[in-house]
Amino acid sequence: VSTHAVNEKGHLVLGGIDSLELAKTYGTPLFVYDLSLIRERARAFIQTFQEQNVPAQVAYASKAFSSVAMYQVMKQENLSLDVVSSGELYTAIKAGFPVERIHFHGNNKSKEELLLAIEHNIGCIVVDNFYEIELLKQLTAELNQKVNILLRVTPGVEAHTHDYITTGQQDSKFGFDLMNGQADLAFGQVYQDDYIQLLGLHCHIGSQIFETIGFKVAAEKLIKKMIEWHQDYDFECTVLNLGGGFGIRYTKEDAPLEPSVYVKEMIMVVKGLIAETDFAMPEIWIEPGRSLVGDAGTSLYTIGSQKEVPDVRNYLAVDGGMSDNIRPALYGALYDAVIANKLDEKADETYTIAGKCCESGDKLIEHITLPKAEPGDILAMFCTGAYGYAMASNYNRLTRPAVVFVENGKHQLAVRRETLEDIVHLDLPLTMEKE
Ligand code: LLP
Repeated sequence: VSTHAVNEKGHLVLGGIDSLELAKTYGTPLFVYDLSLIRERARAFIQTFQEQNVPAQVAYASKAFSSVAMYQVMKQENLSLDVVSSGELYTAIKAGFPVERIHFHGNNKSKEELLLAIEHNIGCIVVDNFYEIELLKQLTAELNQKVNILLRVTPGVEAHTHDYITTGQQDSKFGFDLMNGQADLAFGQVYQDDYIQLLGLHCHIGSQIFETIGFKVAAEKLIKKMIEWHQDYDFECTVLNLGGGFGIRYTKEDAPLEPSVYVKEMIMVVKGLIAETDFAMPEIWIEPGRSLVGDAGTSLYTIGSQKEVPDVRNYLAVDGGMSDNIRPALYGALYDAVIANKLDEKADETYTIAGKCCESGDKLIEHITLPKAEPGDILAMFCTGAYGYAMASNYNRLTRPAVVFVENGKHQLAVRRETLEDIVHLDLPLTMEKE
């Protein structure tokens, strides 16, 4: 939202490049990531930990958007990586991401996924449940290889956000319940294991969070548990991972905090609680996804048909939709947009931006004020960098968009556009005889 760069033609400028040029060169729909913004966000997180003199890992939660080139950007910025499937792990390995900084998440990792992780000696597996402990014990013993783990726990914290994206509350499919003895049981099963090396605890309380209170309560609960285990079992956890979830500004109404605020407050809670004990300051790990890449991404669409529903609304249809950004349809997520070639024109028309999928709910934005639109205009929708392309599908057999990186006047393709050949490349012809 807010301030966009405009050139003398009245065109939106992204990463120093006329967005109309990008649309022309690469086609639409198009995801454009401004790398300088991603670097800025990454450096802000890292710098905050450095200023506080706290050893840390900032892991990019790559479910927000993963591709070989994006992993390479994160590597350049010295981030760690949170992956949640063999697909993400494989992509990271292909990208040459340092394996010792990869953390593997998931509530139902398969044996094959765990094997891939163990074989590549990745930095840490975030263990979610008792079945996984069993699998890991078996696999590490068979392979005679050690693994570092964190235990993921649910601290019973309600983050104020959309229901579907709240993961830290008691009724969650993720992790060991911290309050009812499950986490202690899990601890008992791993802390003396020959192959499994417990580093510490992890939690993730939700996404698109605008308050620090949830993080502070979670930090308190986890650190207290770590202190308790230290006292009772003389076992020292050295890592406290507080997950991601830092909110970003999609529309004027959103009021996120600076990332550094969350980090400083977490650190304060931890330092306060260990002050009176002989428990050493743990490393603090965090896992931002959205707050690293969300506002760096802009979607460019070409405007096509219009339909007026008298006294109700004017539909303006674009050449993408829920197939490249399902968030409005799935969560009622709000976005801001402009007509990229008409930034110098007065916005006095109200439109509903519709996608092209065969589904009435495929609306990207309801009631947005824009200059009068014509077919061929380019709509730029902001803050689509997180969970946009990552959740894209081939619904209606639409081809998925291309992804372009821009930075200081340079641009490159990061993911090529799907072709019609790609659409059928997994399909096999019918070979069974007709009865
Ligand atoms: N760590 C864990 C364990 C997570 O489950 C997530 C997100 C993150 C980190 C990163 O959260 P972030 O910093 O991006 O908020 N598709 C939804 C968001 C789902 C988030 C799932 N977990 C959306 O489009 O809003």
